[in-house]
This record gives sequence, C-alpha cells and structure tokens, in this order.
Amino acid sequence: MATITAVRFRPFALLARREDPSAESAQPRRRPDAAAPGGAPADSLGPIVMLGVPGAGKGTQARRIVERFGLPQISTGDIFRAAVAAGTPAGRELAGYMEKGELVPDELVCEIVAARLLLPDCRRGCILDGFPRTVAQAEWLRGFLDENGMLGPCGLIVIYLTVGYNELYRRLAGRRFCPSCGRIYNDATQPPRVAGRCDVDGTELQQRRDDDPQVVRERLIAYEEQTLPLIEYLRRCSCFHQILGTDPIDRVTANVFGALAACRGAAE
Ligand code: AP5
Repeated sequence: MATITAVRFRPFALLARREDPSAESAQPRRRPDAAAPGGAPADSLGPIVMLGVPGAGKGTQARRIVERFGLPQISTGDIFRAAVAAGTPAGRELAGYMEKGELVPDELVCEIVAARLLLPDCRRGCILDGFPRTVAQAEWLRGFLDENGMLGPCGLIVIYLTVGYNELYRRLAGRRFCPSCGRIYNDATQPPRVAGRCDVDGTELQQRRDDDPQVVRERLIAYEEQTLPLIEYLRRCSCFHQILGTDPIDRVTANVFGALAACRGAAE
C-alpha cells in the first residue's frame, strides 16, 4: 500500500501531459547523475521486486522492508489509486481498467515507473510493489535499470510470495486500509486495536473497490494470463526467492529478510 517516502512524486503531471501536450514536459529517460551500467553504489540493494497474486502480502511485506532497509516503496497500485482519487480524466481512464480487474496498459505503467525511478531516493535501491506484471514490463525494466546504472551488486532481486486462491478470497474480503497513512489491516488476521480505526492516526479504515469478489475473480484471470509467464522469465534473470505467503506475517517477514541477506551474501 502507501508509498513511504519523503520524495514528492507527481504522476498527475505525466498523466496530464497525455491529455494535453502543452502540459509539463516529459521527464528525462536517463538520470543526469546515472552511474555506468552496473555502477550503482556498493551499499545499494536490488531493486527488489515483490511478486505474487493479488492479496499474497506484497504490500504488507514491502512496508516492512521499507522500515528495515530505508528504501522507498514504489507501488503502482497506490500511484494509480491516488490518480483515481484526484478525479482527473486520466484518473477516470485508470479507474476503467482497475474497477474491471484489468491491467493498465504497459506503456502508461512504464512511463510512470520511469519518472518515479529517476528521483534521487532510488539511488540506493527501491522496492517495486506490483511492478513488473507482464513480460513486456520486465524487459523494459531490465533495459531501464541497465541504462541508468541502477542495478546493485546483487542485481535484480525478486521476492515471490505464494498463496492459494481460497485463502486470497478470504484475505481480500477482510482487508481494510488507512486512507491517510496507507497501513494495511485485516479483520481476521491483522485487526486494528479499535475496530474500524487506524492504530497510527485513528482515521476511519476503508475497503478497496477492487476487493469486491467479482472484481477479484477478474484480477486473478489477469494474473494467470499476463503475470504467470513472468515468473519463469524472472526466475532466469534475477536473484529469485520463492517464499510461502501463507505463514504468519512475522514468519514471512523473517524469510523475506533471510532471502535479502542471502542475495547480499552471494554478491560479496
Ligand atoms: P495492486 O494495488 O498492486 O493490487 P494487487 O497486485 O492485486 O495486490 P494487492 O494490493 O491486492 O495485494 P498484496 O499482495 O499487496 O496484499 P496485501 O499485503 O495488501 O494493483 C491494483 C490494480 O492496479 C491492478 O488490478 C491493475 O489494474 C493496476 N496495476 C497495478 N500495477 C500494475 C502494473 N504493473 N501493470 C498493470 N496494471 C497495474 O495483503 C492482503 C491482505 O492479506 C491484507 O488484509 C493483509 O493484512 C493480509 N495478509 C498479508 N499477509 C498475510 C499473512 N501472511 N497471513 C494472513 N494475512 C495476511
């Protein structure tokens, strides 16, 4: 869920430019301070890709990596939801895909991710939560990271969380989130201390529109058709770790941190 970062990111400017060519000009595709290919700082990690079916726990674990490693979380779903909430014509276009459970077209997703990756807080690595989701997005990402010298010593790291479909329906039906800070809850497995209120700021918790069971069904179809082929692709070209997502949340976190330590160890 929510991107914890002090850096201000304005996807709306990009989206506005698609509607009005006179709006703010395009971000450069290459960072002015880009390192040579393979030349990211020695203490950088990743980028780390969180992969898994809707509801596998990508956002939950991504936030814990943020807290532990201080890397920014880039959640394409959160970026799109913010654009939808802003109510712009582009936001309405995005809502058209998301509310049907379909994927947003690759070109638009990659353009937004490129602009975000070029911000300076990504120099030491980042967590990509929900991106890439198609082989085309992954191919684009590899080229972009290479061109901008953004691969750390371990290269691309993939954390693939596995969870069965029945469990996913249960999880998504019980998911709640805080619209202010983005913290994720679950009525069954991760309830707030006070029912319906965020532990951090007391804001009333909300449900995501696309957690409706009918939309979840469509999201799973999109996952099977477009994201499953990506798993074998990424297995071949990354530091790939498959982790059981049905374990208790703290155990999943311990396994994720163990995988990251293993990637670091292998690179030394
Ligand atoms: P997005 O927001 O990325 O949704 P998603 O991938 O479907 O994943 P979710 O956020 O639903 O689940 P999660 O894995 O993060 O699980 P969470 O940690 O919340 O994308 C939404 C839409 O945007 C897409 O459908 C698409 O339209 C568009 N989009 C986004 N990226 C795109 C891209 N790259 N290309 C094209 N389109 C794109 O956990 C779920 C629940 O389970 C929570 O309640 C949590 O508390 C609970 N839970 C977590 N872990 C555990 C555990 N171990 N045990 C018990 N409960 C747990």
